[in-house]
Amino acid sequence: MRFLGLACADIATTAAQLSVGQLCVALWSLQLFFGEALAQPAFGQPVTYDYVVIGGGTAGLAIASRLAQVASVAVIEAGGFYEQDNGNLSTIPGYATAIPFLDTTPSYPRNSLMDWDYVSVPQTEAGGRQIHYAQGKTLGGSSAINTLAFHRATYGAYQKWADLVGDQSYTFWNILPFFKKSAFSYPPNFPKRNTPNATFTYDLTAFNDFLRGPVQVSWAQWVDPTITWLAKGIRSLGLPQSVLGLNSGFLTGTGAYVTTSVDPCDATRSSSRTSYMEKIGVPAGLQVYHHTRATKILFSSKRAKGVQVTTNDKSYTLTAKREVILSAGVFGSPHLLLVSGIGPAATLNKYNIPVISNLAGVGQNLWDQLYFQIINVVSTPSGGQEIALDPAKANKQYYKQQWGPLSSVSAYISFEKIPSTLRSTFSRATKVALEWFPADWPEVEYVAGAAAGPNGSTLGVLSASLTAPLSRGSVTIKSADPATPPVIDLGWFTNPADGEVAVAGLKRARQAFNSISSIKVGPEVAPGDAVKTDAQILAFVKNAATQIWHAGATCSMGKNGDKRAVVDSRAKVFGVEGLRVVDASAFPFMVPGHPQSTVYMLAEKIADAIIKRR
Ligand SMILES: Cc1cc2nc3c(=O)[nH]c(=O)nc-3n(C[C@H](O)[C@H](O)[C@H](O)COP(=O)(O)OP(=O)(O)OC[C@H]3O[C@@H](n4cnc5c(N)ncnc54)[C@H](O)[C@@H]3O)c2cc1C
Ligand SMILES: *[C@@H]1O[C@H](CO)[C@@H](O)[C@H](O)[C@H]1NC(C)=O
Ligand SMILES: *[C@@H]1O[C@H](CO)[C@@H](O)[C@H](O)[C@H]1NC(C)=O
Ligand SMILES: *[C@@H]1O[C@H](CO)[C@@H](O)[C@H](O)[C@H]1NC(C)=O
Repeated sequence: MRFLGLACADIATTAAQLSVGQLCVALWSLQLFFGEALAQPAFGQPVTYDYVVIGGGTAGLAIASRLAQVASVAVIEAGGFYEQDNGNLSTIPGYATAIPFLDTTPSYPRNSLMDWDYVSVPQTEAGGRQIHYAQGKTLGGSSAINTLAFHRATYGAYQKWADLVGDQSYTFWNILPFFKKSAFSYPPNFPKRNTPNATFTYDLTAFNDFLRGPVQVSWAQWVDPTITWLAKGIRSLGLPQSVLGLNSGFLTGTGAYVTTSVDPCDATRSSSRTSYMEKIGVPAGLQVYHHTRATKILFSSKRAKGVQVTTNDKSYTLTAKREVILSAGVFGSPHLLLVSGIGPAATLNKYNIPVISNLAGVGQNLWDQLYFQIINVVSTPSGGQEIALDPAKANKQYYKQQWGPLSSVSAYISFEKIPSTLRSTFSRATKVALEWFPADWPEVEYVAGAAAGPNGSTLGVLSASLTAPLSRGSVTIKSADPATPPVIDLGWFTNPADGEVAVAGLKRARQAFNSISSIKVGPEVAPGDAVKTDAQILAFVKNAATQIWHAGATCSMGKNGDKRAVVDSRAKVFGVEGLRVVDASAFPFMVPGHPQSTVYMLAEKIADAIIKRR
C-alpha cells in the first residue's frame, strides 16, 4: 500500500513538470493503491459468483470492477499480463504504433500470447486481400494494444444511438456522467511541450467533476515537429483548430491535438487494467481467472446460469447466481453467442447447435472504418527519426523526464463531411445513403503522424479514414467447436459509396499535404505521383486501405423486433434471461472517431443500471 501521489511527486523535478506533479499529488493522494492485490482464484474448481464476466478487456474489466464493489464477480480472460507478454511495447506510448503483430498482412509476426490471430476471409472488393485483425488477448484486452487516442463522438451520433435503440438515456448529456465517471483528464502541460506553435484551448468542463474516473487521460507531453506541419496542412483545408477539443460532442469541421489514454505522471499506457484494477484498487469481490478461456455459455431453459471454461486444458463451470456478462469483443462476443446457441437458427442448425434464441442479427452489421495514407519524405525532424538516430538519448529523456518521443503518441486529428465541390461527383445512391448520418457526424477523419524513414529521414504521414462507412461485414462460425476461429468477413468496399468517399478523402489529404510543399522532399512515396485519376485513386485505396481498428456493432443494440438487434438498450440479449453483452460489439453502430471512451462509458452505464436495478 502506498500513496500514488508520491510516485508522481518524485518525478516532478522541474518547474515544467511541477504542474502535473502537483496535480497527481492533490488528486490522487487519497486513493490507496493496491497494485499487487490480485488473489489467485481456485482454477479448475466449480465456484458460484453473483456475476460472471467473460473477457477481461476494455469493457470487461470496467464493468467487473464496478460490480465487484457490491457483489461477487468472476472475470474470465483467455490471456495473461501484457507487461510480461508484450513488454514495453505495450507500456511505452511511443511504441504503440510499432507493435510488430499489428501488421495487417497474413504473414504478420505472431504473438499468440497477446493476440487472437484472427485473419479475415479474402476481401473481394479490396484486392482479394486477407486481413490480419489483431485483438488484445490479455488483461486489458485491446486497451493494452491500441494507439491510445481517446475522445468522444458527437451529439448527433449519440442522439442517433438513443433514437435507434428507443432509449433517450443515450443522448450526449445523459451519458456524460458515465464518460466522466470512467476517466480523469490532466490539463495540457504547455511548458513541458515547449512548442508555442502547438498550443490550444480546451473545455475544462468535459472531465473531472466529482465523478473523476480511473482511466488516465492526457495530452502528449512532447510534440512531434513534423506533426505541427501536417496540422498546418490540414488547417489549410478550412478545418480550424477546435476551441473546445474533441471531448465535448463536436468533431466535424475542426481538428485538434487529441487526448490520449496515457498517465502523464510516469508516461505509461493507461489500460482498463492499470485503471480499473490498479488505480482504484482491486475490489474485494473480484476474482480474475486469467489464462482461462470461456468455451460456452450455459443455460437452464432460457436463463443463463453459468459459463463453461478451460484453464490448462481442464474444463469446469463457473456458475452465475445473477447474470453472465459477455465482454469478449467485436469478434469474440458474437462467436461465443453462436457456439452457445444464440444466433440465426439456420447457422446453428447447420452445426447441430441447439437453438436457445433465434436471433438473426448475431454477427451481422459489422461496421469497420477503413484507413489509408499519403506519405512523403519530409525535411522536418520527427520522433521516429530521433529514436532511430539516438536511441540512448530517447531512452534517457523518457526515464529521466517522462518526456521525448517515447513518452507520447502525439497526433493531430480532424474531421469533416466531404465538401460540396467534391461531393458533387458522388452518385445519387451515395448521396442518399450518406443522408442517414446526422449533420455533425463526419465522413472522414484525417490523422497527422510521422515515422522514421530510410537513411535517417522522416516520413510525413497524413492518413484519412472513413468515419461514416456504409459497407457491412459479418462474423459467423464454420464449426460448433469454440476452439475453431470465427469466420470474419469485413465487407470492405462492398458498398460502392465507401469507394467514392475514399477517393474524395484521399484528394483532400493530398491537397492538405501539398499546401506544405516546402517540407516535401522528392516525389510522393504513397500513393505516388502516378496515381492521379479517380479510377487510379480508387484502385489504390482498394488495394492499400487497412483497418484503423474500430470494428464494432456485431451484437447490435436495438429495439425489440428490429431484425438487426441482438441486445436491448440495457444490453440484455433478446430471448433469454440473465445475459448481457457489454463491449464494442453491443454498439448499435460504430461511432465516428476513436471508440474506446465510448466502450468505457457503456460499461459504466450498464454497471450503474445493474447496481441501481434500473
Ligand atoms: C491495434 C488497435 C488500435 C486501436 N486504436 C485505438 C485508438 O487509438 N483509440 C480508440 O479509441 N480505440 C482504438 N482501438 C479500438 C479500441 O481499443 C477497441 O474498440 C476497444 O478496446 C474494444 O473493447 P472491447 O471491450 O469491446 O474488447 P477488448 O478490449 O478487445 O476485450 C475483449 C476481451 O475478451 C477476451 N476474450 C475474448 N474471447 C474470450 C473467451 N472466449 N474467453 C476468455 N476471454 C475472451 C479477450 O482476450 C479480450 O481481453 C484500437 C484497437 C486496436 C486493436
Ligand atoms: C513549430 O515549432 C517546432 C518547434 O519549435 C518546429 O520544429 C516546427 O517546425 C514548427 N512548426 C511550424 C509549422 O512552423
Ligand atoms: C524496450 O525493451 C527492449 C527489449 O527488451 C529494449 O531493447 C529497449 O531498450 C526497451 N526500451 C526502453 C525505452 O526501455
Ligand atoms: C540510403 O543511402 C544510401 C547511400 O547514400 C543509398 O545507396 C540508398 O539508396 C539509400 N536508401 C534509400 C532507401 O534511400
